[in-house]
Amino acid sequence: MLRGILLQELCFRARRIGNGQNADGRRGVRGSRDGAFPPLYLPPPRIWPTFPGYFFRIDRQRLSRRNAAMNTPTPQRRPHSRREFLKTSGTAIAASALAGVAIPHVHAAGSSLIQTALVGCGGRGTGAARDALQTSKLGPIKLVAMADVFENRLKGSHDVLKGQFASQVDVPDDRKHIGFDAYQRAMDQLKPGDIVILTTPLAFRWVQFTYAIQKGLNVFMEKPLTADGPTSRRMLKLSDAASAKNLKVGVGLMSRHSRALQELHKRIQDGEIGDIINMRGYRMHGPLGSAFSDKWPRNPTELLWQIQRFHSFLWASGGFYSDFYIHHIDHLCWMKNAWPVKAQGIGGRHYRDNKVDQNFDSYSVEYTFADGSKLYMDGRCIVGCNSIYSSYAHGSKGLAIVSKANDCGTPSSTYKGQNPDRANQIWTSTDTSNPYANEWEDLITAIRNDTPYNEAKRGVEASVVTSMGRMSAHTGQEITYDEFINSEHEYAPGADKFTNDSPAPLQADKDGIYPIPMPGICKKTEFPVKA
Ligand SMILES: NC(=O)c1ccc[n+]([C@@H]2O[C@H](COP(=O)([O-])OP(=O)(O)OC[C@H]3O[C@@H](n4cnc5c(N)ncnc54)[C@H](O)[C@@H]3O)[C@@H](O)[C@H]2O)c1
Repeated sequence: MLRGILLQELCFRARRIGNGQNADGRRGVRGSRDGAFPPLYLPPPRIWPTFPGYFFRIDRQRLSRRNAAMNTPTPQRRPHSRREFLKTSGTAIAASALAGVAIPHVHAAGSSLIQTALVGCGGRGTGAARDALQTSKLGPIKLVAMADVFENRLKGSHDVLKGQFASQVDVPDDRKHIGFDAYQRAMDQLKPGDIVILTTPLAFRWVQFTYAIQKGLNVFMEKPLTADGPTSRRMLKLSDAASAKNLKVGVGLMSRHSRALQELHKRIQDGEIGDIINMRGYRMHGPLGSAFSDKWPRNPTELLWQIQRFHSFLWASGGFYSDFYIHHIDHLCWMKNAWPVKAQGIGGRHYRDNKVDQNFDSYSVEYTFADGSKLYMDGRCIVGCNSIYSSYAHGSKGLAIVSKANDCGTPSSTYKGQNPDRANQIWTSTDTSNPYANEWEDLITAIRNDTPYNEAKRGVEASVVTSMGRMSAHTGQEITYDEFINSEHEYAPGADKFTNDSPAPLQADKDGIYPIPMPGICKKTEFPVKA
């Protein structure tokens, strides 16, 4: 009881301070210019060590056990070699309870119909279904089932897709499914070898991927794949199980399918800019999506509301750090052919008024690779500041502009030296194809030609790297890859059993305020967690 009261008080004070208020709730001038920061900004040090159960759910001994494979550089290798695939499959078949008889090759090139089901009929889901249907030049493909937790989202998506692809959208009312178990009913309407599109917020990825593997379905699923250690480990096992069944799995990290970035990657591997020493990613603009939230309006249920506002909650999305920044982090690591081994970061809640989400509004994270080189990721969601949205790789001989604008916008280019002057330019890309279309053409080609194709492991690794940077900023600690992936704090336990009446995974205090990150105070979990 006492512990609860103390925790609540500290969170309350920290939140007020984070919102630019003093601890008593009076609005102060932003920052500390009016001396608003109260003397109790830091808790009495003697209090905290007596209540470790509230804040420390990571088992330190487990953290020190390193899974060496996690830091193995993962160059883009698509498709994997047949020999390597068989080796991986054999290991996974023995290891995984989900493994079973490999799905026979069911879609001969260009001839047979591929059916798809869409689970998560929002903005990206509708876009992904559109990209899927646009591969019809590679062979017949139809959308035959849809699932969502909100009827209006499903209807809106269906209407758009039916309007654009009348003959390829065949989803009568009895194949439109609503609810938390709707994904199962939609997948039940596919045959082995068909494709399910998973585009809900990430919390449901492992739940739906598990069922897809059981049903022998190929999968396209959106990034990020995970936000915490336990689900990352789970998804890696599921990835092995999918490979063991010869399922094809695409992950929505579309930079990897940008033909311009593919050429840049080759040029960098061939030594055009020398050894990569430093990389920079920037995504800085005003607030976007559901990143910042006011208090729950009490309708719909808190769970459904948090799902609608998924960028606001770490359990649903990994926060906007993971949701927005994974693309730059992923493609820069690809250019380096390695994942970083650790991260340290900073960030803060500068201008948050009465918002109750879990995000900072600015982040700056330094990732370190095994060879000591760095990747800096800067992100900001504040109006009125400089807007930058691009990425760069600095080598010992030259510079590459990786994404000129947005997540992977062309042209990419390379330069002698470190200044991107036209006079120093070595190469600029000319390809203008759409990476979102390319990722579908690559997946469908693999399915129709039965070539090994599974991006899930790489998608998990990109998600883990992104999350360890976020966690370093949220805790104020250096976080290693192994610490993150072996951590025990699961953000949405029981996501496979959610119903409309389930409590939300993140609970507010009596004032409707959610736990937020508290760097330097809450050091081993990203936000205060009750034991
Ligand atoms: N690759 C990219 O460039 C890109 C771009 C945008 C979004 N995304 C990713 O796509 C995912 C969805 O993003 P969005 O912008 O489409 O969000 P959205 O809110 O528009 O769509 C998500 C949909 O999923 C539904 N949903 C939520 N939980 C569900 C469940 N358990 N079962 C069935 N349906 C459920 C929601 O009701 C909603 O209709 C996110 O992971 C996001 O990061 C990727």
